[in-house]
Amino acid sequence: MSTGTMKKSHSQWSSRMGFMLAAAGSAVGLGNIWKFPYMAGQMGGSAFVLTYLLFMFVIGLPILVLEWLIGRRGQKNPIHTMEDVAVSEGRSRSWRWVGIIGVVGSFLILSFYSVIGGWATDYIFIAAKGSFNGANGTITQQIFDDFRGNVSHLLTWHTVFMAITALIVALGVGAGLERACKLMMPGLGILLLILVGYACYVSGPSFWVACKFLFSPNWSALSGNAILAALGHAFFSLSLGMGIMMAYGSYLGKDVNLLSTARTVVILDVIVAILSGLAIFPLVFANGLKVAVGEGLIFVTLPIAFGNMAGGTILGILFFIFLTFAALTSSISLLEPTVELLEEKTPLGRKSATIASSIVIWALGIACLLSFNLWSDVKLFDKHIFNLLDYLTSKIMLPVTGLGTVVFGAWMMNQKRIREELNLSDFWFSVWTLLSRFVIPIAVILILIYGFM
Ligand code: PHE
Repeated sequence: MSTGTMKKSHSQWSSRMGFMLAAAGSAVGLGNIWKFPYMAGQMGGSAFVLTYLLFMFVIGLPILVLEWLIGRRGQKNPIHTMEDVAVSEGRSRSWRWVGIIGVVGSFLILSFYSVIGGWATDYIFIAAKGSFNGANGTITQQIFDDFRGNVSHLLTWHTVFMAITALIVALGVGAGLERACKLMMPGLGILLLILVGYACYVSGPSFWVACKFLFSPNWSALSGNAILAALGHAFFSLSLGMGIMMAYGSYLGKDVNLLSTARTVVILDVIVAILSGLAIFPLVFANGLKVAVGEGLIFVTLPIAFGNMAGGTILGILFFIFLTFAALTSSISLLEPTVELLEEKTPLGRKSATIASSIVIWALGIACLLSFNLWSDVKLFDKHIFNLLDYLTSKIMLPVTGLGTVVFGAWMMNQKRIREELNLSDFWFSVWTLLSRFVIPIAVILILIYGFM
């Protein structure tokens, strides 16, 4: 749900439920269903998964709360919110840089997010053609390879996805989208459950192999890179470090309990990721596929299920429709900060600001898209463009802005007021202080340093 739409009614969220759906709409997206499983596959399974779960609750949740809290204080876009709150706490205006880096991050993320959103949209039609009927892993891999090599095809769908995102942000058709989300989100949940059930049913012992791969501690697989990836993914998955949750917080009423709302959003987000993992990995093991194939993982594995289960074509179509919607509710939240900034800092109106930023993001997206085919050899720092943008945003920019937020919240703001606002008992206030002042900043700094070495 775009913040632009919320702004019109500027008021506040109609209900705690409405706010939670919007926040969950931004959080739950390709990150949970597409990115989480393939990262788990590449980073050694459980070592990555368990670290990610730990970071979601110990680092992600407090930062989510702080972003909302700061946003609710500032009542503006993230950059001006940071600036105003800093000034009102007697601090330097330079804290606005936390907001600025966040906006740049959201801009870069959207460029590759839109490419993958386009894949999801295109797969609706590939599923509808019945291409997966009776397919095994070799066939679905072939379909995916052909698809990924077809530049004009990828370009078309990247363009379609970006255009829909821009249209929603420009027109602010939030009401319709919000209603659609209320249907799609639970629908996606149910479909994932069906897929997990199917995976459990057809893959027999492979289901347990998958569970073991995902959850049974195997710390020897834990590398500095996996820890950094888990941290970056916790931020990505909760839409943190980009001022997006801050912007959402600016529409929050005083009566909303931030802690319990954040807990619900984190739990929802985690559940969707875990269900995706449980739907995908049993099929990977049962079909003798490789776990570490990267970005193509869901596009290769789930079609095997759709191709071989009763009603699979319909379920496949529905799945990719829901996935597209989940991606759209995230992509509009990614476009919003840039549009808002342009609208305020340039003479452009909302529509022109949306068009201008979308075109630039779209063009950058083309470079990402080519990195999967024609430009697969074009490398900078040993990474092709898609990987480079992903690395730069998830592993550097998001943790750095998250660090900025938590240092600001814990060291620069009046803690007594925060305590009252969060309604914390003595005990929980000590926990909060320990985490926000020491554990989180130190952990994030160490992880950043460790990840680079
Ligand atoms: N959280 C979204 C997802 O997991 C992605 C996203 C990142 C959305 C950052 C908004 C901001 O798919």
